[in-house]
Amino acid sequence: MSEETRYMENELLNLLDAFKELNSDLDVKVVFQNIILQMAKLLDAEAGTLWVTDPDRDVIKATAVYGPTSSNILKVELKMDEGIVGKVICSGKLQLISDVSTDPAWAPRVDKDSGFTTKSMLTVPLIAKGKAIGAMQLLNKKNGQNFTRKDAQMALVLANQSALALYNSQMFEEIQNINLSMIRTLAKTLDKRDPYTAGHSERVATYSKWMALKIGLDTKTCEELYKAALLHDIGKIGIPDEILRKPTKLSNEEYEIIKKHPEIGADILSTMEPKRTIMNAVETARYHHERLNGSGYPDQLAGKEIPLFAKIVGIADTFDAMTTDRPYNKGLSYHEAAKELMTCKDTHFDEALVIAFLTALEERKYITIEEGHALEGR
Ligand SMILES: [Fe+2]
Repeated sequence: MSEETRYMENELLNLLDAFKELNSDLDVKVVFQNIILQMAKLLDAEAGTLWVTDPDRDVIKATAVYGPTSSNILKVELKMDEGIVGKVICSGKLQLISDVSTDPAWAPRVDKDSGFTTKSMLTVPLIAKGKAIGAMQLLNKKNGQNFTRKDAQMALVLANQSALALYNSQMFEEIQNINLSMIRTLAKTLDKRDPYTAGHSERVATYSKWMALKIGLDTKTCEELYKAALLHDIGKIGIPDEILRKPTKLSNEEYEIIKKHPEIGADILSTMEPKRTIMNAVETARYHHERLNGSGYPDQLAGKEIPLFAKIVGIADTFDAMTTDRPYNKGLSYHEAAKELMTCKDTHFDEALVIAFLTALEERKYITIEEGHALEGR
């Protein structure tokens, strides 16, 4: 086997390894970065870019880049029909160009913005479900040669694989976004029913996330907790208005009715599908009023029997209740409420979680969520 053939075989194996990653749990952008690198090496290109359309903003963005000016290219955005990339995406047809300066579709702006000098170019569309959703571009075949039909065929086959993975990841992200926005809408609808607790669910979700990050939960678990926290009081939908919106203190009987909301919430959420993804939210709704010493409700769980999400949300919920103004009593400051939480550690709340929360408050200099928003908008 010649040196060149051995080199090609090796590069091809590297590229196939990069493609195997498309089915892994890795971030699709990281996988694309590896694919464009291996493709450039295999086809002997100086640089390569993977362009992806953003239909919401009507632009084409560089998503993965390889080459000497790669960091500059990542900032470049093209109009949907701009340049050779735009032409390939609009037509769905590959372009094999030996000298871009003679091509009427060439947009020299990209080179000007990035500081790269493009000569030869191979651009193939990423087609998924019959629609071009991006393009893979390889620039400047080394040693002054031109890209060949064989290069183009190879790039096309691999682009099709990438397109499918990209499409799946976009769909997954879209479904996740729809899911979160529906949960948020549901939580907001609930909060609107009780004028005294406006924004309660969002704040409890935010406090819970602060705690989760502090104890080192991974991103995926933090997101799951955030959604579960948004829905923790969803059972209040089943509590009559005259009790939920009552501006004065509740009677014992009324309080007993309010205490049914965890079970109602768990029941409502348990009808959602798929079960395995909603399980944590069901538990959080049911157990967020359980306390470490078994004095909570509805099941008087104690210690380790209480799921972690419910323990976290229980602290966040209590903190928000203490710091929210009511018609019959003014809310405590963050400092005062933090002290209160400390007096209940070990009896009501998990000590490590309370400390994690107080550390998070301290790091934020006890600035309230509202004050934080006001500062951001300054
Ligand atoms: Fe509650």
